[in-house]
Order: sequence, then structure tokens, then C-alpha cells
Amino acid sequence: GAPVEVDISDVAPGTMKVVEWRGKPVWILRRTPEMLASLKKNDEKVADPNSDKFFQIETPAYAKNETRSRKEHEEVLVVVGICSHLGCSPSSRFATGAQPNLPDDWNGGFLCPCHGSTFDLAARVFKNKPAPANMDVPPYMFLADNRILIG
Ligand code: FES
Repeated sequence: GAPVEVDISDVAPGTMKVVEWRGKPVWILRRTPEMLASLKKNDEKVADPNSDKFFQIETPAYAKNETRSRKEHEEVLVVVGICSHLGCSPSSRFATGAQPNLPDDWNGGFLCPCHGSTFDLAARVFKNKPAPANMDVPPYMFLADNRILIG
């Protein structure tokens, strides 16, 4: 499949857009400073903090870190929105406040409706969930501040 160029100027902080790449949904989430800060609290709670494992796409070197993103735009998360367990599509949970059936200290992320895997705002799966790996980060690069190339 050909690489996909995406304009992300319309992705406001705290929101995401979905594009298709190689027939897969790719999520582009622009995290707020608070969302980024929340990741540190999860390092001990996620199963694979440095993304040593993967589902279908080996984690790019620049995404093997807490934010799972490129340093020059670490607020932008680019992931394939498919659960590494049996391939369902997780839903986003960015709302603040009580989130039923989620960890007490849940600070937003993604929830897979099929068997309850929960992911943080870097799409890292929490411990003791059915999903064996974090959601995949595809290869991507910035062509300009608001323009990325996926693939
Ligand atoms: Fe996501 Fe099973 S497919 S938890």
C-alpha cells in the first residue's frame, strides 16, 4: 500500500481523527499537556512500557518510549486502532470524571468492548488484560508541523 499523507491542522488538542492506511484505521490523537503528563503515572501499570512486543507492525525505534511518539511532536500519537487480542476496535475514553468499570485511577485512553482490555493515552495496554501487546504504531514522519506521512 502507498503511504498516506494527512493534514492534522484540524486535530485540536484532546481530539483525534481517523484515517485509513492499508485498509486499517489509523488514529491520530493530539494530546494535551495533561494527557502527556498522565503517561508517567502509568509506566508501572502497563504491561509493556517500552513496546518491546507488537501485534502486526514492529514498533519503530522512535516510538519505543513512554509517549510512543516522535520527539519533535511528542503530543501527536499515531496508532493503528485495532486491539492486539482478537482484532476488535477499541473506543476512546477521554472524558474526565468517573468511568464505570475502569481502573480507579483511570485518566483516559481506550477501552476494547470485546473483552475489556484497557489502554492508556499512548495506546499501551494495562497489565492483566487479554490483549498481549500495545496497539501498533505504524511508520510515520512529519512533512511539516501539521502534515504527516504514514507508511
Ligand atoms: Fe480486544 Fe479481546 S479483542 S480484548
